[in-house]
Amino acid sequence: MSELNLILLGPPGSGKGTQGERLRDDLELPYYATGDILRAAVREGTELGKRAKRYMDRGDLVPDEVIVGVIAERIDRPEAADGFILDGFPRTDPQAEALDAKMAELGRKLTAALLIEVGDDEVVRRLGGRRTCPNGHVFHVELDPPSKEGVCDVCAAELEIRDDDKPDVIRHRLEQYHAKTEPLIDYYDRQGLLERIDGTVAPDEVEEGIRALLATLRMEEEA
Ligand code: AP5
Repeated sequence: MSELNLILLGPPGSGKGTQGERLRDDLELPYYATGDILRAAVREGTELGKRAKRYMDRGDLVPDEVIVGVIAERIDRPEAADGFILDGFPRTDPQAEALDAKMAELGRKLTAALLIEVGDDEVVRRLGGRRTCPNGHVFHVELDPPSKEGVCDVCAAELEIRDDDKPDVIRHRLEQYHAKTEPLIDYYDRQGLLERIDGTVAPDEVEEGIRALLATLRMEEEA
């Protein structure tokens, strides 16, 4: 396949980060997760982090103009010339339109928007037990536990509970998803780019589903 420009869509806790890491390692493409980028900016105390923090703590989306430039700059990088994986962007109609405009400016096209589908109850269960490390690796106390409790398997950093994984903030993030991000399902469906993935099965099976889908897309391109 000439270029693989992928978007991961789905509610909070659907497994975008879990699958995004696997895809990055499998496809050797740059992986841009806006939540990770914003959390790093908050930790480093940059201007971006200062602007984003109060929105993130409440479970609100940061303003479009704050995040669009961040992703446009990533897509311009030479490392993204053969493709990229976006996780958590776009999340609103204006963000999707800005991404289309950026791709048109570069003479490039999106390959697919992979929608990882999971219901709200499962989201609450997953985010309630999530543990993350400062480098973005993701675990779950019951569903995907690290080998040693409280320690990241990948980089041995201490695992943390995210500030926005509190029950009231989780509910608000879900409301934001349904109101502002869910309309993108139709947006990409209309463009013929939407691919639905069952996110309710185990992480390995979700990964298998995505691999099978990408193989089909490759065959269709070559046919
Ligand atoms: P972000 O970090 O992107 O949060 P999110 O979209 O809410 O997604 P999550 O990271 O919560 O979940 P995920 O789908 O990655 O699931 P995960 O793999 O971790 O954004 C945070 C905030 O930043 C936003 O609220 C907003 O303020 C701001 N922001 C970011 N992007 C923005 C944008 N474009 N515009 C405006 N604001 C923006 O998995 C969850 C748990 O489930 C884990 O514990 C995992 O181990 C477990 N799990 C994963 N897969 C499975 C499975 N198949 N079975 C069982 N358990 C599983």
